[in-house]
This record gives sequence, structure tokens and C-alpha cells, in this order.
Amino acid sequence: MRWLAFHPLVVLLWVGPVLLAPVSSAQESKKDELQPIPTVDLKRNTPIEYNTDIAPIFENKCFVCHSGKITEGDFDMSSYDKLMKGGRKRGAKVIIPGKPEESFLFLACARRARPIMPPKTETPLTPHELSLLKLWIEQGAKAPTTTRVRTKVVVSLPPALVRPVRAVVVAPDGKQVIASRGNQIHVYTAQKKQDPGKKEVLDWVYQRSLVDPNVKFPDGKPAGAAHVSLVESLAISPDGKTLASGSFQEVILWDLASGQIRQRLTGFADRVTALAFSGDGKYLATGGGPPSEEGELKLFDAASAQLVAEIRNAHSDTVFALAFSPDGKYLASGAADKFVKVFEVPSGKLVKSFEGHTHHVMGVGWTPDGKRLVSGSADNIVKAWDFDKGEKIRDMPGHQKQITALVVVGKTPQFLTVSGDTTARLWNADNGATIRQFSGAGDFLYAVAASPDGEVVATGCEDGLVRLYNGKTGALLKALAPEETAPKK
Ligand code: HEC
Repeated sequence: MRWLAFHPLVVLLWVGPVLLAPVSSAQESKKDELQPIPTVDLKRNTPIEYNTDIAPIFENKCFVCHSGKITEGDFDMSSYDKLMKGGRKRGAKVIIPGKPEESFLFLACARRARPIMPPKTETPLTPHELSLLKLWIEQGAKAPTTTRVRTKVVVSLPPALVRPVRAVVVAPDGKQVIASRGNQIHVYTAQKKQDPGKKEVLDWVYQRSLVDPNVKFPDGKPAGAAHVSLVESLAISPDGKTLASGSFQEVILWDLASGQIRQRLTGFADRVTALAFSGDGKYLATGGGPPSEEGELKLFDAASAQLVAEIRNAHSDTVFALAFSPDGKYLASGAADKFVKVFEVPSGKLVKSFEGHTHHVMGVGWTPDGKRLVSGSADNIVKAWDFDKGEKIRDMPGHQKQITALVVVGKTPQFLTVSGDTTARLWNADNGATIRQFSGAGDFLYAVAASPDGEVVATGCEDGLVRLYNGKTGALLKALAPEETAPKK
């Protein structure tokens, strides 16, 4: 199930691929591309545990070629027992317990024996991962001592052009669409062009990527990435000037006119999975937190990036959704603990709590009068709530699979949802009816956004495509592929 993509292990996996490293000209030369990967001092005082420490690395960096239908070199790494049997050529010699320096698997991962693993088109192990692997073999390559919930196989970061679009926003003027793929952020703009009949039409083109120049590959080359880890959330300020992007333990505020980093917010416990600006642009709310521990909710002054309030114990699990009330007095949140809650701004005082969803709450929104809330959940259902009474108004079924995002369209009672069932839906909060469906995506959808006038609707898909629709007709305008963002040869 795709749900497992939210598993904490997956986060750890995504943190690996790029390092903050200084560049030296020697490191940039071609033939050093395959320099051995160094190991580091792990300062570990607990034994390495296969399921916790090692399997996630394999899952992220090896499974594409060594599990399931594909087992390159007849080497199946999908379980500990199969792993220890080795592959066609080297058999059990791939891992010699106690002797990393004689184990082909370690040497290949360290790029000290050929063929190197993973092959050079893929993301190499980080020094940290390599060191874990080494220590595990040193300690006897022991079998797992815990039971493990399998996570979804995550495609490794830089090589794969197909990357799920996890977050998308549309600028207030409807002329810019910004999407995140992996650890990158891509900006698209609408440009006027003449169609064959010489009529002026709008075309959407890739404008640029937002890049943190400090994020580099282990070899020192710029990664062209916005964050070290996966970009989990995006929000655009109401004046359209600032983009906030949330990732593992950080939020970056970007100046959209220049594409430069304006501010960096740190001090988060885990991933920042939800972001929202207040309607007047004064506040930025951030949500996240380590799974199954504590939902993290913070309120910042958007101009100074100063922390205004930290709402402790807001939720008992990761926060996935945030929305300010239209008058800016309240902040609604939705979390993996199945609750929708409303807090006072800026005090952070809990005002109301709405219970009823049976799975993670992935999106929340307010009707323009501030009297009702809508929430979308991984239980496939949209619920409408009466804010004053603190009661549910109705269930809105329709989606066949989990709802992954919900966004209100401007100052209207209409809102959009996307789901794992590959569709986006436009709803009327007043009567619970589906107004329109947006189809054409062949895969799981993660993100949705609309211009305030509802003209432009954008969805983000597992297949890496951002689909742009005419919000009024449902017609697909364009599918923006990740290839367009690749540097032109
Ligand atoms: C893009 C595909 C790909 C990825 C990813 C990949 N491998 Fe491989 N691997 C191969 C191929 C192809 C072979 C067979 C090479 C040969 O026999 O020359 C192979 C062979 C191996 C072998 C040799 C098995 C034997 O008995 O000879 C080991 C060990 C191995 N891989 C480990 C890994 C590890 C560990 C990772 C992840 C860190 C990894 N591979 C990731 C493609 C891949």
C-alpha cells in the first residue's frame, strides 16, 4: 500500500543521497567520479540491527534491481535469508560475517570492487550508510531481531526522472505553478503564444528550479536540489512573493522573483509535512512530527521567520494538513491521529476537536464564512463539520481510495480533493455534491492546488507528472513532465 510511503524509515532513506560537502576542483574531474566512498566513525554503542539499520538502505538503493520480479545477477535481497545466499556468481561469499574487507557486497558498495553497486547510474550509498553496512558485517552480519513492517520501495533520487509529485501550488495570479519532485522544486509559468489559427493562447513552460547551492552530491557536484531530503510540502504567500517548502527538519522561504533563499527555518523534530500561510500573509504555520509520537505544530511570523507559538501535543501523530480560517483567527489541523483540531491564533489554545475519521486526515479547509470545515482522509471520505456546534454535518463519499490532499478554491464554498484512485474531484461544501471530476492521471495522486478564481487546477502524481486542468470545464490543458526540467544537452 502506498501509505507506507509515510513510514519513518522512508524518510531516513530519502535523507541519504546528497551531502553537504565542499567542492574542490579535483573532485569535479571526470575520472574521479568513481572514487571509493569513505566510511565514517559512527559512534554507535548499540548493535546494528538488520531490520532497523540495514534493510532500509537495501530497500531504497538495491531493491529496484534485486527484489520482486527483478533479481539482477540472480541476487535476491528481499529477505535476510535470501540475501545471505548471495547471487549466481559469488554465492554466499557476497557477505562473509565478521569480514567486511572480504565481502564483495561491502566492497562493491564502497566502489572498491567491480561491478560497483549500485551501478553508477544510481544513487550511491552515503558514507553513513556504508559505515552501517560495514559495522553490521563486522558484528557478524546477524539476522534480524525485530519484526519489520515493509515499506514501499522508493525509487532512488537523482537518476530516476520519474519522481512522484508530492506537493503543488498555484500562484494567486494563476500564472505560476510550482511543484516538488523528490528533493527538487520546479517552477512553471504561463506564457502567451499563438496557436496555428493565430489565436493567442496560454502555454505552460518550465521556468526554473529552486536550488539550494549547498546541497551537493558526495562527489561535490551541485545536486540541483532544493533540500537534502524529500520536499513534503509547499505553500505560497497570498501576495505570491514567497514560497515556503517543507522537508526533513527544515523549511525554506524562497523569494519567487529571484529564486533565491530568503530564510531558513530549522528546529523541527522530523519532516515538515504541512504548511499554510494566513490569509493576510502574516503567519506561516508548519505541521509535521515523527510518526506515532507527537504531531508538531508551529506558528511563525512570516516576515521575520521568528517563532510565534509552538503548540505542544497538538496531535499524537504526524500533522498532514493545515488551514487558517478566513478571518485568520483560527488554525485548523488534520493529522495521522485521525483528528481534525482547531487552535486559536496566535495563542495556540485548543478550541475544538473533531473526531470521526477512521484513518489519517490528509487535508482540511474552511468555508468562506468560517462556519464550516471540510476534511479529507485516508479513509476515502470527505467530512463536513459545523465549527460552532463542533459536530459533523455530513459524510461525502465518492473516492475509491485514500484521499491524499484537500484544498479550498479561493473564497468559494468549493474545494478540491485528490486520491489514490487517480482522480481529482471538485466538491460543493454547501450540499456535499461532486461538481466535477478531473481524470487522465493513470496513477496515485498526492497533491492538488487551484488558482483563487478556480480557473487553473493542478494535480501532482506518482508518475511524476503535474497535470493542469481548466478548472471550469475539467479539460486537461497540459501534463508537465519531469524531463522538461532536465538540463538541455
Ligand atoms: C540498477 C540495477 C542495480 C541496482 C540498483 C543494484 N544492483 Fe547489484 N547487480 C546489478 C546487476 C546487473 C548485477 C549483475 C552484475 C554482474 O553479474 O556482472 C548485480 C550484482 C550484484 C551482486 C553480485 C551477486 C553475485 O553473486 O555475484 C551484489 C552483491 C550486488 N549486486 C549488490 C547490490 C547492492 C548491495 C545494491 C544496493 C546497494 C545493488 N546491488 C543495487 C544491478 C543492480
